[in-house]
Amino acid sequence: MCGIVGSIGLKTPRDYIMKGLKILDYRGYDSAGVAFLNNGLQVFKDVGTVEHLDTIVPQDIKTNVMIGHTRWATHGVPSKENTHPHVSFHKKICLVHNGVVENFEEIKSFLLSWGYEFYSQTDSEVVANLLEHFYISNNDIVGAIKEVMHMVKGSYAICFFLCDRDDQMYIFKHTSPLVVGIGENFSLVASDASPMINLTTKFIELADNEYGIVTPTEVNVYSTKGTKVKKDYIYKDVEAISHDLKGYPHYMLKEIEEIEPVVNKLINTYFRDNQYQFDPKLLKALKTSDHIMFIACGTSYHSSLVGGRYFEDVGISTTKYIASEWAFHPTTPGNKPFIILISQSGETADLIHCLRIIKKKKIKSLIITNTGGSTLDRGCDFSCLLHAGIEVSVASTKAYVAQVTLLALLAGALAKNEIVVQDIKHCLDVVKDIRENYKEKIKAIAEEIKGKQNLFYLGRSFDYYLSLEASLKLKEISYIHSEAIPGGELKHGPIALIEKDTPTLVFITDPETAASMRGNIEEVKSRGAHVYVASTENLSKPGDAIVVKNYAYYLSSIAISSIAFYLAYYVSLAKGLNVDKPRNLAKSVTVE
Ligand code: AGP
Repeated sequence: MCGIVGSIGLKTPRDYIMKGLKILDYRGYDSAGVAFLNNGLQVFKDVGTVEHLDTIVPQDIKTNVMIGHTRWATHGVPSKENTHPHVSFHKKICLVHNGVVENFEEIKSFLLSWGYEFYSQTDSEVVANLLEHFYISNNDIVGAIKEVMHMVKGSYAICFFLCDRDDQMYIFKHTSPLVVGIGENFSLVASDASPMINLTTKFIELADNEYGIVTPTEVNVYSTKGTKVKKDYIYKDVEAISHDLKGYPHYMLKEIEEIEPVVNKLINTYFRDNQYQFDPKLLKALKTSDHIMFIACGTSYHSSLVGGRYFEDVGISTTKYIASEWAFHPTTPGNKPFIILISQSGETADLIHCLRIIKKKKIKSLIITNTGGSTLDRGCDFSCLLHAGIEVSVASTKAYVAQVTLLALLAGALAKNEIVVQDIKHCLDVVKDIRENYKEKIKAIAEEIKGKQNLFYLGRSFDYYLSLEASLKLKEISYIHSEAIPGGELKHGPIALIEKDTPTLVFITDPETAASMRGNIEEVKSRGAHVYVASTENLSKPGDAIVVKNYAYYLSSIAISSIAFYLAYYVSLAKGLNVDKPRNLAKSVTVE
């Protein structure tokens, strides 16, 4: 995973590099470091957060070139030695890397035979030394980059400088993302555009197998064959990628409370003038396929479960796969399948792996993503953007709701059913009601469950899919073990886990299944469970913890997911945990 930044020609590089690393630490945050040239090479790095790094990097830095890195450990534990930037053995190259070099052991043996020594366990130091090896052999840094790109297998976005030269920075990439920001007499590099947005809105995105030579006034990009590539500038909207907390204490809370505008924006984008606005070619491709496969990970997989049901309910056969499972057993049901990939970030490595297989199989694909210009956005045949604005908190909230909303609209478009739009609009009243009237109640429940070790979510049908997401959210940021169980499955095993005071949260919003769910409540209560029910007015019973306005039962993930999000948020807060950056996780999972 990891985030990288670089700057050349900028008058105040420390500010950009440190703020940039803070913004990029959604990509990993177990250690961080910076390097620059000022009377020789200066490197500052340590285990811990970017905030900690900030305390050890000198304030007044005068340099023309500076790079930085925030790490999520893959090869080697979080330690000072394994922290980037890495300096090559003969101290000619200083480098930061995001990605995973698959053949690093082979390359390491090659370099050991040339007398290289290694100070870290990382694959990245191997790349620094390999670059140096070819550079020393031919005194040609561009030739060295080409050799390295030819030899290294795996994923990489690399930014480096030569330790005796501060007028050029070098970049190259495969799979991992790398964006260059173009300023007035300065150039910037980062894993995505967000750290640069306050300094420039003009960008170039490096494609796979391209390398670039970056100076303050010029960025030249080449293919691995050395042919110059003409790059178009991309202009990004400040608002869409701004990391401003807008007065909220945490990104997660801000993002939960953005659900209403996000859903509204989606409706206005994909349904205007009383008509659905999807690409007719996409609708045709979906209609002419005989089977739709959904592939995704984590929260996005949970939204595919809901979306898959929407498609089935309008007569389309579907299967849903977890990306890391399908990648190693890529079955393709039907004679003419169509694949829908779902990814908030558009950079999830497991999905990128799947896309390579999909392309080989020549199956048409759609990506549903929040990140225009991401690897998956560029790689699929069709793309539907979520327009949810940047999601910073590791725990996905508004993007989940946006994914489900978009899938409901897409299924509505296929079925030519416009009631879906009205149904979604009604959900917004429920979201508002929860935001305005139920936060205190949810906070009180959070206080009651914060000390528990196990918790269960129960639901059926759409409420079960929501339970899966609710449970993941709680695990991620509160570290309480939780499981989602379909009400009907309780008796088939999981009920053995219910004991005195086990918190059990139950969603009852579907008229078809409400009576069965009430039966399930009696079963768990009689085994001692402490039950909290969230229900809709028409299905509520005295004693239910939260009773919301009625809505179309199939839209639970839009209407009431915020109950689960607030609960996870308040439990994490009550436990004094890092809400936005939970342990061991990163926002964008860019390694398999
Ligand atoms: C969500 O809360 C999680 N952090 C995680 O499960 C996430 O949804 C998953 O890694 C997939 O990410 P993507 O949507 O960016 O592909």
